[in-house]
Amino acid sequence: MKTLNVDLGERTYPIHIGHGLIDSTLLRSAIKGRQLLLVTNETVAALYLDRVLSNLTMFEVATVILPDGEDHKNIETLDMIFSEALTQRFSRNVTMVALGGGVVGDIVGFAAATYQRGTDFLQIPTTLLSQVDSSVGGKTGVNHRLGKNMIGAFHQPIAVFNDIDVLETLPAREMSAGIAEVIKYGLLGDVAFLSWIEDHLDELMGKECSALSKAIEHSCKIKAEIVARDERESGVRALLNLGHTFGHAIEAHLGYRGCLHGEAVGTGMVLAARVSGIMGLLSESDVTRTVSICQRANLPVRPPKGMTPNDFLEHMAVDKKNIDGRLRLVLMRSLGEAYIEDQAPMAILDDVFQACCH
Ligand code: NAD
Ligand code: GLY
Repeated sequence: MKTLNVDLGERTYPIHIGHGLIDSTLLRSAIKGRQLLLVTNETVAALYLDRVLSNLTMFEVATVILPDGEDHKNIETLDMIFSEALTQRFSRNVTMVALGGGVVGDIVGFAAATYQRGTDFLQIPTTLLSQVDSSVGGKTGVNHRLGKNMIGAFHQPIAVFNDIDVLETLPAREMSAGIAEVIKYGLLGDVAFLSWIEDHLDELMGKECSALSKAIEHSCKIKAEIVARDERESGVRALLNLGHTFGHAIEAHLGYRGCLHGEAVGTGMVLAARVSGIMGLLSESDVTRTVSICQRANLPVRPPKGMTPNDFLEHMAVDKKNIDGRLRLVLMRSLGEAYIEDQAPMAILDDVFQACCH
């Protein structure tokens, strides 16, 4: 097992990466109080809930099983958690446990940030995407019909348990969505890691343990370092949104159905590379390299059919990175070096959308 820390002073917490963690004593020992609210969804409950519960018999545990899917990441679903916590008369010493992918993690984190003004929460991420990205860093929240992740809070977990074994049951399409975020780390800050991903992509897609373990560890290391430098995204953390401005527009356009978050990020990274290419920052071969690694990972590299340039601009106008109505984008100066572009090149954006929309 490997352990990394997210260094945030008195709120420093460990990210454990290894096998069999959901059955481990380490999991039990991370919980301070007696009361536990374990939240998962229908799909993950059928696979892992009994195992996790049997590891936690010494606690007073209540369970909430949410409906599955990004379109349930909303205030109504959040209310199921509050209602159960209040019905059980759980105090603010309760620990909320998120067992699931990024959707469950983000909702539970926000419930923990706000229930009785804040409780502990622990992440047991069960998708590759949530293990390499969403469980780390304390961004929590739900979607609003007018924008993704628009209601939320920063609230760090007390620990993250990345159990590689649970990825065994993850469908191939979800693996690809997680690999999109792994590719993101290479593109935004580590070209040597990007080359490593290119060399090991088949192993990653085939769930080969040592490749997965390295990808998860390296991704978490990059994210932990960035979060430690800029917890609340006043600067460098925005780089973690490479591909997300375009990706969130795609997800919102599709009503959070039919396209996975990681798939939208994959298309978004390709669009960011194309814009960076036309701006003269990336060479043609860098752009081709970005498209090709996303294609090899089975990610869509063009926007969904029927989405227009105008659809993009409308949704991008509500992005959280925008300041005073000014569109800000994460682009690439070179492969492995992302930066924030404050003067979004509207004419170039339009060219790229015109060329890619179909
Ligand atoms: P998800 O949570 O919807 O999980 C994907 C699917 O896999 C679901 O159907 C789920 O039930 C299923 N599943 C989960 N674990 C499984 C397992 N072990 N075996 C079989 N099936 C399993 O999606 P996701 O990709 O994990 O997360 C996407 C969400 O994460 C988005 O809402 C996105 O906004 C959010 N996100 C948040 C952050 C952050 O910093 N907070 C970062 C990136 C993404
Ligand atoms: N996924 C973006 C962030 O955590 O900041």
